[in-house]
Amino acid sequence: MMRRIIVAVCVVMLTAGVAFAETVKLPDPDKSGTMPLTEALTLRRTTREFSGEDFSAQELANLLWAAGGVNRPDGRRVHPVAMGLQDTSIYVFKSDGVYRYDAPSNSLELVAEGDHRQETGRQDFVGKAAVNLAYVHDMSLWEYSRAPRDLVAKWGFAHTGAILQDVYLYAAAMGWNCVVRGMFDTDSLARLMKLSPTQSITLIQTVGKRP
Ligand SMILES: Cc1cc2nc3c(=O)[nH]c(=O)nc-3n(C[C@H](O)[C@H](O)[C@H](O)COP(=O)(O)O)c2cc1C
Repeated sequence: MMRRIIVAVCVVMLTAGVAFAETVKLPDPDKSGTMPLTEALTLRRTTREFSGEDFSAQELANLLWAAGGVNRPDGRRVHPVAMGLQDTSIYVFKSDGVYRYDAPSNSLELVAEGDHRQETGRQDFVGKAAVNLAYVHDMSLWEYSRAPRDLVAKWGFAHTGAILQDVYLYAAAMGWNCVVRGMFDTDSLARLMKLSPTQSITLIQTVGKRP
């Protein structure tokens, strides 16, 4: 009986077009040195020209680790977060799809198939750069906290600020180009990314190789 129910549920899900999650494991991030931090700080800047070349899996793994990877055995991350709550996720728009970066498992979860990079903004370069990283803040993790909601929303932007500066510095160290962006269509992106009402995009950052 139970087997029949499971089969029936699967058939209904497939008929309704519900896709099963696809997970892509990333290579271990390469944490060997790049350039001195002070040199990267000197080179940190916004640049808007991109070659159109994709990142290799290794390059992407390294970039995402710098953005929001785990850097301690207890699971804490490269960037600081208020009260230790990991309420900010990184979504990756690349040439073959939109993915959510799962830092603890160092993997990408498919959210939408296909190239949606140009949908992350009106500026032409966003469809050409290797990746657009959309930072998503989730209020739901604070449901049982006494922290005031207006403060939590500000903390979400602080988390994004820490991530985006790490990405700017990593891009500078690698000789890549990078720009953070505050102008995008929140509603259509939220639909594409299947965000819940408690999730919102704070900023989007475009990163790619130089022409
Ligand atoms: C919150 C925020 C939003 C931004 N939005 C955009 C944007 O939508 N498009 C863009 O091309 N640059 C955007 N920028 C990049 C700024 O224009 C850039 O950081 C500024 O000109 C200073 O240059 P610098 O980053 O080289 O110091 C944004 C920067 C920040 C911090």
